[in-house]
Amino acid sequence: MSSSGKKVVAVVGLNGELGKPTLSALTSPEFKNYYHFPIRAVTTKNNKFEEFSDSEVSYHKVDYNDASSLVAAFNGVDVVIDLGSHKNTQILLDAAIEAHVKLFFPSVYSPDYGPEKKDYSGLLAFKDFYHDDRLKCLNLKVGWFADWVISKLAVLFLSNEPNKAVRVGDGNTKIPVTFISDIAKSLASLAHHSPEKLPEKVCVQSDVYTQNELFKIYEEVKGVKLDIEERSIDTQLQIAAQADKKQKSDMFDFLNVITATMVSPKRMYVDYSKGKDMKLVNPGIFEWKKIIPEAKKAWSS
Ligand SMILES: NC(=O)c1ccc[n+]([C@@H]2O[C@H](COP(=O)([O-])OP(=O)(O)OC[C@H]3O[C@@H](n4cnc5c(N)ncnc54)[C@H](OP(=O)(O)O)[C@@H]3O)[C@@H](O)[C@H]2O)c1
Repeated sequence: MSSSGKKVVAVVGLNGELGKPTLSALTSPEFKNYYHFPIRAVTTKNNKFEEFSDSEVSYHKVDYNDASSLVAAFNGVDVVIDLGSHKNTQILLDAAIEAHVKLFFPSVYSPDYGPEKKDYSGLLAFKDFYHDDRLKCLNLKVGWFADWVISKLAVLFLSNEPNKAVRVGDGNTKIPVTFISDIAKSLASLAHHSPEKLPEKVCVQSDVYTQNELFKIYEEVKGVKLDIEERSIDTQLQIAAQADKKQKSDMFDFLNVITATMVSPKRMYVDYSKGKDMKLVNPGIFEWKKIIPEAKKAWSS
């Protein structure tokens, strides 16, 4: 903790999806008074973001193969927010413990899977991290990235061909989504709490969609008729099982596995928006973004 009593935060994994949005949230008028500035940006690269001044963000270069560089970057830090790939989480966690960090956000940012995750031990091998007496871990669970559903059409359509889409089951499966900016705000909102008052898992979502809803809106906004392939749930589960076993997987393998988890008979759908975690994260500080207006805006421009 800084002498001002404000939390010292380090953000790791800047150049992925969540780095810049999380720095934006931490330095925004809504949250900046909770944090000691500059925020520590811990990175393997040399680039700086021109959006932030030196008094807002300081850069600390590290090498994941050199634990001492991580411990040095975390020295004096209260909270580490890991935004990188899953494979580095344990290395970062060990360094955070050594540097006496109090709160750690492991890089999960995925849906809160239930028993359906166990069917995909290849592509969904990542695990939650729990605290021991030295360090509290908070696993932030979110839906799919809503930004990807809107901007990477293969995520929505399960197809790369123009105006072609695959409908799985009846197309009415509810799929929770969270916008990247809402994840960033959620992190900025949670990171200033006393670790002992926080749960180990927090589930949030910006919104929920079904394939049928978004297919219809896409057709209306774009003035096209989608060529829709109907795929049964059983077929989706078989495709996903094969995808999960591949030595070298691609984006479609991952999408097929995630889609299979959503339609799996083992899935117990939970509407996060009704839970107490939403109030903990956002007691009226910001508006959660909604997917239909954002999709209409993006697709009509
Ligand atoms: N819910 C969803 O739909 C969804 C979608 C995509 C991702 N995610 C989650 O979001 C998180 C971030 O994903 P992402 O795709 O943005 O991650 P990423 O691109 O794999 O990694 C993000 C950053 O981490 C650092 N990094 C990671 N591994 C490294 C290594 N071995 N060596 C050097 N640098 C490394 C790099 O930052 P520097 O360059 O600053 O060092 C990199 O830009 C993950 O937890 C992922 O599961 C969720």
